[in-house]
Amino acid sequence: MSHSSETKPNAAGSTLWGGRFSEATDAFVQRFTASVGFDQRMYRQDIRGSIAHATMLASVGVLTEAEKTAIVDGLTAIQADIDAGQFQWLVELEDVHMNIESELTARIGITGKKLHTGRSRNDQVATDIRLYLRDAIDDIALAITHLQTGLVQLAETHADTIMPGFTHLQTAQPVTFGHHLMAWYEMLSRDYGRLLGCRRRLNQSPLGAAALAGTTYPINRQQTAELMGFNHPTRNSLDSVSDRDFALEFASFAAILMTHLSRASEELVLWTSAQFNFIDLPDRFCTGSSIMPQKKNPDVPELVRGKTGRVTGNLMSLLTLMKSQPLAYNKDNQEDKEPIFDSVDTVRDCLRAFGDMIPAIKPRKAVMYEAAKRGFATATDLADYLVRKGIAFRDAHEIVGKAVGFGVNSGKDLSEMTLQELQGFSTAIDADVFAVLTLEGSVAARNHIGGTAPAQVRFAVAEAKLELAGR
Ligand code: ARG
Repeated sequence: MSHSSETKPNAAGSTLWGGRFSEATDAFVQRFTASVGFDQRMYRQDIRGSIAHATMLASVGVLTEAEKTAIVDGLTAIQADIDAGQFQWLVELEDVHMNIESELTARIGITGKKLHTGRSRNDQVATDIRLYLRDAIDDIALAITHLQTGLVQLAETHADTIMPGFTHLQTAQPVTFGHHLMAWYEMLSRDYGRLLGCRRRLNQSPLGAAALAGTTYPINRQQTAELMGFNHPTRNSLDSVSDRDFALEFASFAAILMTHLSRASEELVLWTSAQFNFIDLPDRFCTGSSIMPQKKNPDVPELVRGKTGRVTGNLMSLLTLMKSQPLAYNKDNQEDKEPIFDSVDTVRDCLRAFGDMIPAIKPRKAVMYEAAKRGFATATDLADYLVRKGIAFRDAHEIVGKAVGFGVNSGKDLSEMTLQELQGFSTAIDADVFAVLTLEGSVAARNHIGGTAPAQVRFAVAEAKLELAGR
């Protein structure tokens, strides 16, 4: 390596404290303004952008072919060294861009100094982040699909597994476990759509905007855009170097996705509690307590729920960062990276955790079934039955309310009452009522698009498989 890690000589000098003061301030400002500590993770994107830029400069005659080759070979070798952990990042060189460029010059000499012709770190960094996010988005999209695949498989297995459905966290009507899982699937499908929308809009090349106004060299922005896999160049140089909408969109996507995972997490936490006892989460997703031997804590869903806070925070950071910024580039924008990176890392990890955990969930079917039975979950079905016998819905509602009151006092579910007992509430009730009072009858009756009937859940599963296969 050509760079030295030694601190610079004390330029200020003579008095001990004065020199010390001046040196200390410089060193601090250097550290304060540097971004290399976190933007070095974009080195592959930075090198890709530089290679595209040098290639274009050669094809428009600003660089010779030999110069281009020296630059491309030099950058390729630098990338290999960074990949191998053999590169020394220097805070004196502020950021990933200047570290790589200065190393290039150290290796290939004056030709290295020509790389920055016709560009600025302003368009360079805007390019790098877009490339970085595009790569991250592609990974995250796969992780969402993986998680959704697990949900669909579990939903298919449990298309007829009955559980209580809740509103206000009170037993409302029976649903199937498969239906509940497919609700999570829907949330994730919207997340996937938002992610792809974000990718589509960010996939434009800001390279060539230079510092803010464009450049006097005869650059070919179409060519660099193509070399980097962008759909086309951005249309306005001022906007190009200052726009971070793609970061805001990604952060919004991430916050909404995490909100969804937090909701699922909350349900998993509830369901694993002794009070619900609906599911078993394998031990590998849980931890014990150092003091209470009986404990098996659902750490993974709890942590995912907790991490939602930082991802929502990252969105707020970025929105606040961009608020009121005048055109064009401002150093403020250096603050965009850590929230983006943190959201990328957190979303990736949480999707991985969920992707592993979901297929491992073991529902306790009998417990879920009993819980559905206990909560008068078929009360609405009885009311609907009375309506079919010619009673107005409001009256039916009242009749059933009385029957439920009797059930609460006598400890009987509606399906456990005798025909005589039920007829005491309405003479419209016949022996055929018991078909609708069963949990199976209740879910099977909700047989329309989006309903909880096992047939509909299977239909939703089939549609989902098609959707996933088409990605
Ligand atoms: N490290 C800077 C950033 O992250 C790169 C751009 C610097 N541009 C400048 N004019 N100081 O935004």
